[in-house]
Amino acid sequence: MGGDFLSMFHLETKRLIWLIGITFSIILAFQYVEPNYGNVLLSLFSADRIPTSSESTDTNVTILNHANFTDELSIQKANATIDTVSITGFVLEPILSQNKSQEKVNSYSPSPENAPTNLSPPFGSTTNVGPNITTAVLSNDDNITNSIKNESFSPSSQNGGNVQDKSSSISSTVPKERQEIHVPIKEVTTVSEMNKLLLQSHASYRSMKPRWFSNVDQELLQARSEIENAPIVKNDPNLYGPIYHNVSMFKRSYELMEERLKVYVYREGARPILHSPFLTGIYASEGWFMKLMEANKRFVTKNPKKAHLFYLPFSSRMLEEALYVKNSHSHKNLIQYLHDYVDMIAARHSFWNRTGGADHFLVGCHDWAPSETKLRLANCIRSLCNADVKEGFVFGKDASLPETYVRNAQIPTRDLGGNSFSKKTTLAFFAGSMHGYVRPILLKHWENKDPDMKIFGKLPNSKGNSNYIHYMKSSKYCICAKGYEVNSPRVVEAIFYECVPVIISDNFVPPFFEVLDWESFSVIVLEKDIPNLKNILLSIPEKRYLSMLMRVKKVQKHFLWNKNPVKYDIFHMILHSIWYNRVFSATS
Ligand SMILES: *[C@@H]1O[C@H](CO)[C@@H](O)[C@H](O)[C@H]1NC(C)=O
Ligand SMILES: *[C@@H]1O[C@H](CO)[C@@H](O)[C@H](O)[C@H]1NC(C)=O
Ligand SMILES: *[C@@H]1O[C@H](CO)[C@@H](O)[C@H](O)[C@H]1NC(C)=O
Ligand SMILES: *[C@@H]1O[C@H](CO)[C@@H](O)[C@H](O)[C@H]1NC(C)=O
Ligand SMILES: *[C@@H]1O[C@H](CO)[C@@H](O)[C@H](O)[C@H]1NC(C)=O
Ligand SMILES: *[C@@H]1O[C@H](CO)[C@@H](O)[C@H](O)[C@H]1NC(C)=O
Ligand SMILES: *[C@@H]1O[C@H](CO)[C@@H](O)[C@H](O)[C@H]1NC(C)=O
Ligand SMILES: *[C@@H]1O[C@H](CO)[C@@H](O)[C@H](O)[C@H]1NC(C)=O
Ligand SMILES: *[C@@H]1O[C@H](CO)[C@@H](O)[C@H](O)[C@H]1NC(C)=O
Repeated sequence: MGGDFLSMFHLETKRLIWLIGITFSIILAFQYVEPNYGNVLLSLFSADRIPTSSESTDTNVTILNHANFTDELSIQKANATIDTVSITGFVLEPILSQNKSQEKVNSYSPSPENAPTNLSPPFGSTTNVGPNITTAVLSNDDNITNSIKNESFSPSSQNGGNVQDKSSSISSTVPKERQEIHVPIKEVTTVSEMNKLLLQSHASYRSMKPRWFSNVDQELLQARSEIENAPIVKNDPNLYGPIYHNVSMFKRSYELMEERLKVYVYREGARPILHSPFLTGIYASEGWFMKLMEANKRFVTKNPKKAHLFYLPFSSRMLEEALYVKNSHSHKNLIQYLHDYVDMIAARHSFWNRTGGADHFLVGCHDWAPSETKLRLANCIRSLCNADVKEGFVFGKDASLPETYVRNAQIPTRDLGGNSFSKKTTLAFFAGSMHGYVRPILLKHWENKDPDMKIFGKLPNSKGNSNYIHYMKSSKYCICAKGYEVNSPRVVEAIFYECVPVIISDNFVPPFFEVLDWESFSVIVLEKDIPNLKNILLSIPEKRYLSMLMRVKKVQKHFLWNKNPVKYDIFHMILHSIWYNRVFSATS
C-alpha cells in the first residue's frame, strides 16, 4: 500500500514537474518566436504564422514579461506559440535543468537589420524540453553562425533586459527598474523640455562639496567663468554656428579642455572587464573611447593630484561577457563586481572619497550600463549610450554617448557620405528587426503603404550590408526608431551616410546634447505621431530640408572615430561632454 502510494506520489510529482516544464517551455518558445528572433524566424517560417507587424504583439509580449507565469494571458498567448513551434519544429531550450528559468536570449537589439549581430547562439543548441517536445536545430545557417562568432559571446543587451523582466517575477535578485521600458511611456520629456532641464542643471546642479580643497577645484571654477564669458564667435571656419546651442561657449570650453584638462586613468583592475577595449559591433563606442583614452598623451596625467577627472576604464560589454551567468537572469554579480572595484579604488586612493566620486567618470554603451552604475557609481559622470530620461539620466551630470556601429575596426570611416540631394530618391527609410514596441507600430502604419515611405522589417542579408547602406545614402530622411532601448546606432549611421535623422524615441537624450542643437539638423517625432509621419516630413519645406542636410554634413565630424584622434572628432567630443558637465557641476 505504502509503496503504491509512494510510487503514485512519485508519479504525481513527475507529472507536476512535467507540467512546470511545459509551462516554461511554452513561455520560452514564445520568447523565441517574438520578438527577439523575429528577424531570424521570418526567414524560416512562413510569414502568415508569425505576426510581424502588429503592435499588439508587443503589447502581449509586455504582458508576458511582467505577468506571473500563471497569468491567463501568457498562457493563452503561449498556446498560440506552441502551435507554431510544433508546426515548424524548432528547438526549445531545456527548462527544468535551468533552474526554472529561461535561456538567456542573445541578440543585439538596436543593431541595423542586416547586422550579423542580430543573431546569436542559442540557435546552436539542441535540447529536449520536458518530455518529447524535442525538435530540430535552428542553427542550420552556418553562414550566419560563422559570421557572428566573434560577437556571439556577447550578449544581449536589450534582450538581456527582457530576460530580467521576465525573471523578475521569479527571482527577487533582479532589478525591476527596466520593466516600464517595454511599454509606451505616457510621460514624455520633449527636447525643448530637455533643453530647459539642461540650463536649469547648470544653474542649480552641484556635485558634492569636496572634503578638502584642491587646486583643481579652483581651476574648474575658473574654466566655468571663462566659458560663461566666452568671446562671441562669428564665422569660425571649423565650427558651423547653427548646429550648436551656443557655439561661443562650446568653442571656449573645447579650447580650455585642450589647454588644461588632465585625466587620471586608474591602473587597477583586471582584464578583461577593465582595460580591454572591444572595437567592433554596436557597443564599440565604449571600447574605442577606452583604447584612445588610455593611449592618450595630451590629457592623461600620471599625477592624480593634478587630475580634474578620474576615468574608471571598465567595459560594460566585457562585464557582461565575463561575468553574466547564463540563465541566471541576474546581473547582481556584475553590479557587485563594480562595487568591489570602486571599494578597492576608494580604499587605495583618497580621490574617490574627496568628491564622493563626482569627478570620476565611466563610459558605457551596453544596455545594462545604466542599471549597473546607478547605485555605487551614481555620483559619477556617466557617459551612456542608453541615455534615457526615464532610466535615471541626470541632466548636467550624465552624458549621452553616441552609439556607433563599427563594422570595420581598421577603417571605421568606410563608406562615409551620402548622395547629393538630387539623387536622394526616397523620402523616408527604415529597416530593422521588430524590437520593442515602437517599430511594430511604425510598420503597421507604413510598411507597404506608400511608395515614398520605404519602411521595412529586417532587410534580407546583403554583402557588406549594402542594401541598407544604399537606402540610407539615397534617402532624404532616415527613421531612427527605438528598439528595446531608447538608443539606436541609426542616429549616427544617418549622419554618417548623410541622411537627415528622424528620431522616434521618446525620452531619448541625443548624443552631445550639452552642445549640439539637435533640432537644427534632425527631426524629432513623438512616438504617438507615427501615424502622421509622412505629413510631418512633407510639411518641412525644401529649403529647410536643405539646410538640415547641410548641417548633417557639418556635424558629421563630431561622430567619426579616428585611430589617431583629431580635433573635434567623436573621441574629443565624448571627453568634452564629460569635461563640460564637470565644469558646470563643480563646487569648491
Ligand atoms: C494580445 O492579447 C490580447 C488579449 O489576449 C488579444 O485580445 C489580442 O488580440 C492579442 N494581440 C495579438 C496581436 O495577438
Ligand atoms: C490552451 O490550450 C488548451 C488545450 O488546447 C486549452 O484547453 C486552453 O483553454 C488553452 N488556454 C487558453 C488560455 O486559451
Ligand atoms: C542552478 O543554479 C545554481 C546556483 O545558481 C548553479 O550552481 C547551478 O549550476 C544551476 N544549475 C543549472 C543547471 O544551471
Ligand atoms: C518520447 O518519445 C519517444 C518516441 O516518440 C518515446 O520513446 C519516449 O519514451 C518519449 N519520452 C517521454 C519522456 O515521453
Ligand atoms: C555559405 O557560404 C558559402 C561561401 O561563403 C556559400 O557557398 C554557401 O552557399 C553559403 N550557404 C548558405 C546556406 O548561404
Ligand atoms: C574573430 O576574432 C579572432 C580573434 O579575436 C580573429 O582572429 C578572427 O579573425 C575573427 N574572426 C572573424 C570572422 O572576424
Ligand atoms: C503575481 O502577481 C501579483 C499581482 O501582480 C503579485 O502580487 C504577486 O507577487 C505575483 N507573484 C509572483 C510569484 O510574482
Ligand atoms: C552664448 O554664450 C555667450 C557667453 O555666455 C553669450 O554672451 C551669448 O549671448 C550666447 N549666445 C547665444 C546665441 O545665446
Ligand atoms: C574612503 O571611505 C571609505 C568608506 O567611508 C573607507 O572605507 C576608505 O578607507 C576611505 N578611503 C581612504 C583612502 O581613506
